[in-house]
Amino acid sequence: EHRNAMQSALLVWFEGVRTARNMPWRKPFDGHATPAGRAQRAYEVWVSEIMLQQTQVATVIPYFNRWMESFPTVKDLAASDIDTVNQLWKGLGYYSRAARLLAGAKKVVEELGGRLPDNARDMQASMPGIGRYTAGAICSIAYNEQVPVLDGNVTRLLSRILALHAPPKAKATTEILWDGAEALVKDCDRAGELNQSLIELGSTVCKPRDPACGGCPVKAWCQAYRIAHNKPEADLADI
Ligand code: ADE
Repeated sequence: EHRNAMQSALLVWFEGVRTARNMPWRKPFDGHATPAGRAQRAYEVWVSEIMLQQTQVATVIPYFNRWMESFPTVKDLAASDIDTVNQLWKGLGYYSRAARLLAGAKKVVEELGGRLPDNARDMQASMPGIGRYTAGAICSIAYNEQVPVLDGNVTRLLSRILALHAPPKAKATTEILWDGAEALVKDCDRAGELNQSLIELGSTVCKPRDPACGGCPVKAWCQAYRIAHNKPEADLADI
C-alpha cells in the first residue's frame, strides 16, 4: 500500500459506501488485467461517466446495464447506428451524449486500433467529447492512473477543504482547484477509488447546504470545518 493519511481516510470511508451503494461500473481495479482487459474497463467507465454527466446514479444504473447488454464492447457500439443508440437512450435526455458515444466508438475502431487510449493525455487529445474531467475519471478508475478529477461536487469539496474564497468559474480558480485535485491523488496506490471517494463525498456528505460534517472522513484536513467549528489551527503533520 502506498497512501498518505488523508488518502487512507478517504479510501477506508469509500470501502464502506461502495458496499452500501453498489454500482455496476464500480468493479475493483484489476492490476493483472491485460491491455485489452484494461481497455474494456475503460469502455465501461466511459459509458458510465457520459451517462452520469447529467443524470443521477439511480436512474443511470438500469440504462447502463441495458446498454452493456446491447453493446458489450466498443466494437459492438461502433457497428451500431444513431437510431438504435437513441432508442436505448430514450428517457435519459440530452441525446447528444449518445451521439458522442457512437462517434467516439467509431473513431476508436476506425482510427485507434480498436482500443481506447491507455492514458489520460491521449484520451483527452484524441477522443471526441472527452475533456479533462472525463479523461481523468476513466483513466484513474480503469487504469489506476494518478490523474485528477474535478466536477461540480469535487469543486465544492475542495473549495471547503482549502477555504477558498474565489469566483468558482474564474480560470485562476479552476487552476488552483485542478492543482488541489492533483495533489490529493498524487502517489496514491488506489487512484480510481480515491477519485470516486471525492465525487461521492461531494455529492452525499459535503452537500451545498447543511453539509454533514460529522460523517466526513476528512474534516481534520478541512479549513472550512476548522473555521466553522472554531478549532485551533491543526498541525497537519501530526494528523
Ligand atoms: N458521478 C460521476 N462519476 C461517478 C462515479 N464513478 N460514481 C458515482 N457517481 C459518479
